[in-house]
Amino acid sequence: MAARADARSRALQARAVELTPGGVHSNVRLTGPSVFFERGKGAWLWDADGNDYVDYLLGQGPNFLGHAHDDVITAVDAAMRRGGVFGSQHVLENEAGELFLDSIGWADRVRFCVSGTEADQAALRLARAVTGRTKIIRFEGHYHGWLDNVLIKTVDGVTGPASAGQSAHQLDDSIILGFNDAEALAAVLAERGAEVAAVILEPMMCNSGAILPVDGYLQRVRELCTEHGAMLIFDEVITGFRLALGGAAERFGVTPDLAVYGKAMAGGWPVAALAGRAEPMARFAADVNHSGTFNSSVPACAAVSAAITVLRQEPPYQRIEEHGTRLMDGLRKLGADHDLPLRVQGLPAAFHVGFGAGDGPVRDYAGLTALDLHRYADLVPILVDHGIWVAPRGIWYVSAAHGDSELTAVLERLDAALTAAERG
Ligand SMILES: Cc1ncc(COP(=O)(O)O)c(C=O)c1O
Repeated sequence: MAARADARSRALQARAVELTPGGVHSNVRLTGPSVFFERGKGAWLWDADGNDYVDYLLGQGPNFLGHAHDDVITAVDAAMRRGGVFGSQHVLENEAGELFLDSIGWADRVRFCVSGTEADQAALRLARAVTGRTKIIRFEGHYHGWLDNVLIKTVDGVTGPASAGQSAHQLDDSIILGFNDAEALAAVLAERGAEVAAVILEPMMCNSGAILPVDGYLQRVRELCTEHGAMLIFDEVITGFRLALGGAAERFGVTPDLAVYGKAMAGGWPVAALAGRAEPMARFAADVNHSGTFNSSVPACAAVSAAITVLRQEPPYQRIEEHGTRLMDGLRKLGADHDLPLRVQGLPAAFHVGFGAGDGPVRDYAGLTALDLHRYADLVPILVDHGIWVAPRGIWYVSAAHGDSELTAVLERLDAALTAAERG
């Protein structure tokens, strides 16, 4: 295969670093190859040098319907022509709220905002207000945004701040436990339950390893929260609308007290949401502040309604399940064919690819870091060179737009990439 053209991407990157630190506007993009894209449609991307990529990153998740979905574009375009934000309510808000709440099924009220980071903050503030307590229990490897009071990293079993300049003291109210260990949670709640406002978690640990909850774990977390009067917050920014229309709560049959959504809910548009039952959520209309100039903007509401309508009228879940299953199996077979210890785990809509010995699924962050994560990260530039767009951290997302031709393309490209990697 001819080397991928990249002159224009390289020139754009050279200019970008003169304009913005690292040439990127989000630190997550500092890892991996610097590709400048020109456009995306469906499951495909085209870069500034004319190369095509079959996309399994989906912009880190939001393009669950595929890029530039016609219904979302039409709705957002029509909405924008009537204005964007009015400093007041507008006529598209109720439809978006109704469709959203009907879809997730368990909540009475929703607040829309712009990013998952801020929706998580609103959830934590509300939980503290409702319970009158301050401590938050959360878990290694789970991501709840980039702000000081939630950004953590675990190195050699010790968890602490993840960024220079981060006030470590802001983590004082966090109690950080291992995922999938209900007994550790039970022990902490038995001792300190009266201080705990909330337990927050990704119901499936998508950000680190696409790790599923073990059988009965989420049910036990639910019971423990109820027993100790702590609010259970599901961070469904990745799982919401992806694992099922009703997200992880529906898929795993466990109902939280509050849940945070983002990414897949709006066809690629920047929208997030916090949902909950009427009584706690009423505090936002009383004494708990949650604000934002761009919350529930006209195009955002149009995008939410359009995307959710597509998900309800043409549910893609079965197709995604089949595509993702065939892709996961194909990856495993290619690993075996190339004699590589490739590990694939998770669900077809969101799975993790890495290298490491052993067969069973990884259950927690310690298990994930025991894998050879560097080896996969080193493979990613070769995958990108062969026209597969994925991220170094190993997550693969499948969209409603992935079909047979994408499956054929990605498996052929993977085979060629693994052959190139072997040659070194
Ligand atoms: C589980 C989870 N929560 C919160 C966030 C933060 O969302 P945002 O990047 O929209 O601020 C993310 C982002 O990836 C996420 O995966």
